[in-house]
Amino acid sequence: MSSTPISLRGQVEPFHVMEVLKAANERARTHGDVITLCAGQPSTPAPRVVRDAAAAALASGEVLGYTDALGIPALREAIAGHYADTYGLTVDPAQIAVTTGSSAAFTALFLAAFDAGDTVLMARPGYPAYRNTLQALGCRAIELDCGAEVRFQPTVAMLEQWAHRHGTPRGLILASPANPTGTVIAAAELAAIARWCEERDVLLISDEIYHGITYGEDAHSAWGSSRAAVLVGSLSKYFSMTGWRVGWAVLPPALVRPVELLLGNLNICAPALAQVAAVAAFGAEGRRELDGHVRRYAANRDLVVTRLPELGVAQWAPADGAFYAYADVSHLTHDTLAWCREVLDATGVALTPGVDFAPVGTGRAELDGSRWFRLSFAGATADIDEAMSRLAAYVQSR
Ligand SMILES: Cc1ncc(COP(=O)(O)O)c(C=O)c1O
Repeated sequence: MSSTPISLRGQVEPFHVMEVLKAANERARTHGDVITLCAGQPSTPAPRVVRDAAAAALASGEVLGYTDALGIPALREAIAGHYADTYGLTVDPAQIAVTTGSSAAFTALFLAAFDAGDTVLMARPGYPAYRNTLQALGCRAIELDCGAEVRFQPTVAMLEQWAHRHGTPRGLILASPANPTGTVIAAAELAAIARWCEERDVLLISDEIYHGITYGEDAHSAWGSSRAAVLVGSLSKYFSMTGWRVGWAVLPPALVRPVELLLGNLNICAPALAQVAAVAAFGAEGRRELDGHVRRYAANRDLVVTRLPELGVAQWAPADGAFYAYADVSHLTHDTLAWCREVLDATGVALTPGVDFAPVGTGRAELDGSRWFRLSFAGATADIDEAMSRLAAYVQSR
């Protein structure tokens, strides 16, 4: 009898939000009353100028075949221009790799920089694909408990303590603003972490894909402090283009060629039509439209944080940026996976359980994702207001 080979490393954690999404889609079919606050994406299309550029490229009969593995020159130059305009940083387009969403940048980068068995640190709670992708590649993904006392972000003191006990890691992933917490690392702490990494040859991977969506101080780029770091960017969030699948990495010179070779083998290139159209996203007209979305997210954020206490919530992450509220509902449940299902059944509001971001039992219990949920406020303000009313009525009726 034959048996199909199935690898151990392929057995990654499920992405629990997909289950909620499936249940939400089912309820939308049967009840038609669903408000989806579980998806980590803007509810708006790509900027008008991008859609026009895509239509023009299609109409012209342009071939849109494979591009260079590192992306079309016009887009790499536009991204370099974006660093000059936004941060005053000079970036050589030759050090930019355009990728199939930032997700493909992470895979190529992990393969280019780390060997099986290498240790890479990240925050708990944090974006689950870092951990799952590293584990699938045979690396050791180590989560550092980051609670309210450190604003849900790693600190130099924490890295020092970890290295003292376990040795120097090979890499550190930071996300600022972060998913699911939205917290931004203060400029001085980011600089100190970048220096700490550079002095020890620890590769700092700075996930900057939520840059542009901040509500107080702008987020700083790690290249302002250390050019030994890798920056990861994306058109998915601020640029409102998740499904177009365009992201990028800004690389130290030694990583450019290995990443190019890996991308050529793994993906060949990012989607050509999306690359051609994406160039327009960086112009003034596109930015005006996108900044309007950020103003709406800001209003939505104020609404959500004003109304969270109606659910009896006393603790939530500061949401300095991104479009998420990550809230502690341990007064209501210690099983948010089941609770989110109940809430969906009772109210039609789809939320994300925290278990994707902080697996249960792998660190401090009060940070277990089973006590937290994430709500995305990227949608229409009226929908979010209605969702908060339904949630408050549900919690108060229990
Ligand atoms: C922190 C973070 N990094 C990376 C990604 C991957 O995004 P994409 O591949 O669309 O650029 C996401 C998606 O939600 C995210 O939240």
